[in-house]
Amino acid sequence: MASSLKQQLLLWLLVPMLVIAPVAAALQYWLVISPAKQEFDHQLGDLAIAIASFLKVEGSNFHFNMTGETEHLLRTDQLDTEFFLVLAPNGKVLAGDAALDTPEDKIAVGEMRFVDRKINGRLLRMAVYAVACGENPCQVRMAETLIKRNRVHAQALITTLLSILVLGVTTTGVMLVAVRHGLKPLQDIRAQLADRSLDDLRALELPHAPSELQPLITTLNQLFKRQAEASTLQKTFLADAAHQLRTPLTALQTESELSLLEPHPESLHPTLERIHQSASRAAKLANQLLVIARTDPDGQSMAQFSRVNLKDIGAEAANEWSSRAYAAGVDLGFQLETACVNGQAILLQELLSNLIHNSIEHAGKYTRVTIKTHVTESGAVLEVEDDGPGIKEHERQQVLQRFFRGAHAQGYGSGLGLAIVSDIVRIHGARLILTTPGSGSGLLVRVAFMRDFSRARQDRQFH
Ligand SMILES: Nc1ncnc2c1ncn2[C@@H]1O[C@H](COP(=O)(O)OP(=O)(O)O)[C@@H](O)[C@H]1O
Ligand SMILES: [Mg+2]
Repeated sequence: MASSLKQQLLLWLLVPMLVIAPVAAALQYWLVISPAKQEFDHQLGDLAIAIASFLKVEGSNFHFNMTGETEHLLRTDQLDTEFFLVLAPNGKVLAGDAALDTPEDKIAVGEMRFVDRKINGRLLRMAVYAVACGENPCQVRMAETLIKRNRVHAQALITTLLSILVLGVTTTGVMLVAVRHGLKPLQDIRAQLADRSLDDLRALELPHAPSELQPLITTLNQLFKRQAEASTLQKTFLADAAHQLRTPLTALQTESELSLLEPHPESLHPTLERIHQSASRAAKLANQLLVIARTDPDGQSMAQFSRVNLKDIGAEAANEWSSRAYAAGVDLGFQLETACVNGQAILLQELLSNLIHNSIEHAGKYTRVTIKTHVTESGAVLEVEDDGPGIKEHERQQVLQRFFRGAHAQGYGSGLGLAIVSDIVRIHGARLILTTPGSGSGLLVRVAFMRDFSRARQDRQFH
């Protein structure tokens, strides 16, 4: 599986957080709990000292005297049950709850010690305090149940968990947003490259991309530049080669046509016929290659663009194709209305020529082919419609690729016609639509030009 930069960043950020969070939680819990615990012990200790003050010592005699009211006061607590015990130096119970008489270490006079004890099945916190009773100390013990303390524990736990949860969720959210934001420039690069045609080798324009990405963008742009140079060289070579081939091939085509008209032995006729067909095909191919080499996909040379009336292009095609269509048994009709576009006349002629040629060739005998030009709300339209077999839906994308010929293609084509049409359409910023005519059968090729294409082109030129 391809590793994702986003996943890696999140992993590097979240895993340490997963380790740090429990440590931070434990620390926070301890920081809340420990002062509260000290405070409760302190209060318990104070009570033990208060009880000790009721121990009267005179020389080696001592006695403990506390009124019932005072005892009641000392035992009063809203939540916990309080216990106390006063022990003479010999271990005799002087007052209080005998249950607290657990074996405890001896402690020095004035010393206070806190211990946890389980007495009668109940957990108690006990303060043990020693006061002087003659030579040996008496012990005062003050104990209480843990309800207050447990409450504070529970509250601290809830607070800690809540704060960790809020912190965790917000931090994770912020990290997700930050990582997405940080990776956005990569998305921008992708967006600029994703919809590009193979011929579009313009430099990437991302002036606000972070400095870390600039070297990558520069390298890509250098690559595009080299590729564009190579592609220009290749096109020049292709144009030169096609041009060089076209002249002798056209001559061969004419010569073979003439020799067919001259008296010749019957046995030679099929051979001459084949030579003529091959020469025609090769001449057409050379011509198409020349057009491909000359079409400038970036449409950079504004000079070649001018105001062209599609009606004139249609009229010229009528001149060129009428007799050939008639010879092929095709009923070629024209419905031409003025429709002006900003375009390259030679290329538009080539486009229409290819479409008419296709209709005559692939639709076949006894079909009707109609060429229409008109203007709609969104711009000028050129249409070529025939009532032949049409192109199946699943082949409509493929037929636009170079050298692709349909399963039932007729004639000696090379599969370049519609690819050239598609290139020319793109140069004009128009849309090419292959569809079935309203009659339900045949092929309708529509080239829809954009109304403000010339302005769009100029904007691109000057910015
Ligand atoms: N008018 C049409 N009617 C039916 N099929 C067509 C038509 N025009 C083109 N096609 C199909 O599209 C394919 C590609 O056309 P094209 O690129 O002009 O190549 P070629 O004509 O050299 O075969 C053809 O081989 C044919 O199958
Ligand atoms: Mg063709």
